[in-house]
Amino acid sequence: MIGLLEQYLKHRAVLIVDNVIERGSSDFVTEVASELPLQAIAEIMGVPQEDRRLIFEWSNRMIGIDDPEFASDDGATAFIELYTYVNELGKQRRSDPRQDIVTKLINSEIAGDRLSELEFDMFMLLLSVAGNETTRNATAWGMLALMQNPMRTPPSSRTRPSWTWRPMRSCAGPRRCCISGAPLQRTPRSVARPSPKTTKVVMWYISANRDEDVFNDPFTFDIERNPNPHIAFGGGGAHFCLGANLARMELRLIFDEIVQRIPDMHMTGEPQFLRSNFIGGIKHMPVAFTPAPRQSRPARRQHRLAVARAPGLRTRCRSHWPTSGRRNGANPPGTPQPGHP
Ligand code: HEM
Repeated sequence: MIGLLEQYLKHRAVLIVDNVIERGSSDFVTEVASELPLQAIAEIMGVPQEDRRLIFEWSNRMIGIDDPEFASDDGATAFIELYTYVNELGKQRRSDPRQDIVTKLINSEIAGDRLSELEFDMFMLLLSVAGNETTRNATAWGMLALMQNPMRTPPSSRTRPSWTWRPMRSCAGPRRCCISGAPLQRTPRSVARPSPKTTKVVMWYISANRDEDVFNDPFTFDIERNPNPHIAFGGGGAHFCLGANLARMELRLIFDEIVQRIPDMHMTGEPQFLRSNFIGGIKHMPVAFTPAPRQSRPARRQHRLAVARAPGLRTRCRSHWPTSGRRNGANPPGTPQPGHP
């Protein structure tokens, strides 16, 4: 199943680059960085292609609660709509099991224990957000670092593009988490002053990844840094990022495509950052490059092929579709979206 997922995502990465390459310019975040994480997590969750953009919008509204571009309400409406959607998806799989991860999750049993409906729904919610925002921003920050440091990206990395997911250390990771003192004990980095278990502390992954006791020259972007003991996915332990390997695979696939096919990408304006205390996000990043021909057939035909090949994609949840609170101008499910190959 993982092998098939990789094949599918590789195909999507080609389409993502195809979608912008003839134009010679793009908003890197909305048209490139956001697409593969969305496709990957939606594929795993069994969300049909025509509904995937909604997962993206809900996730934006939940995370972008402090940002005027996304904050259309208090974030609760987006939460409820997403919750309703995944609950309906779960019901569908209970009555119509498929060869997909959702069905496996619903039916799995450990020592006689199964996920309750609430546990399943909350897990799907977690996946929707965790699988989307993080890898999108790792891609966007990674590309920004590559464009800002062309001299530090040696030719060997350009010809061996699978190295390029390494900007991880410099950029990825939630900006901070508010947690009680206890969980810090399992990270390899420590707090300077021990705090009582009830004290809330703020954990800055981005700071830990520039720890001068751990990294030589920590503020320098060095794509060939080795060893690179970053903790962007957590420091190990029970809560280490569940999607770390998936994220690494996505980053490798999309950067492989970009570096090989658009080697001269450069910024044409300032990136716009997300206003958030939780995620260090980039919302928009205008870029330009030398136009080149696409590699695949036109998007519409490819989409039909992808749907035909992946039976899970045919499932629809739209009969129970929540419509309240959708952002102004958002299209109904199934409407082809700009920038969506
Ligand atoms: C570059 C991309 C990503 C980064 C930087 C990232 C980062 C993190 C971090 C820092 C944690 C907390 C670790 C800890 O507390 O020790 C975490 C947890 C988690 N991540 Fe990721 N993540 C990424 C991608 C993903 C993806 C693609 C998925 C979905 C498949 C995912 C699912 C999760 C889940 C479910 C947890 C909670 C695990 C638990 O509490 O047991 N992440 N991630």
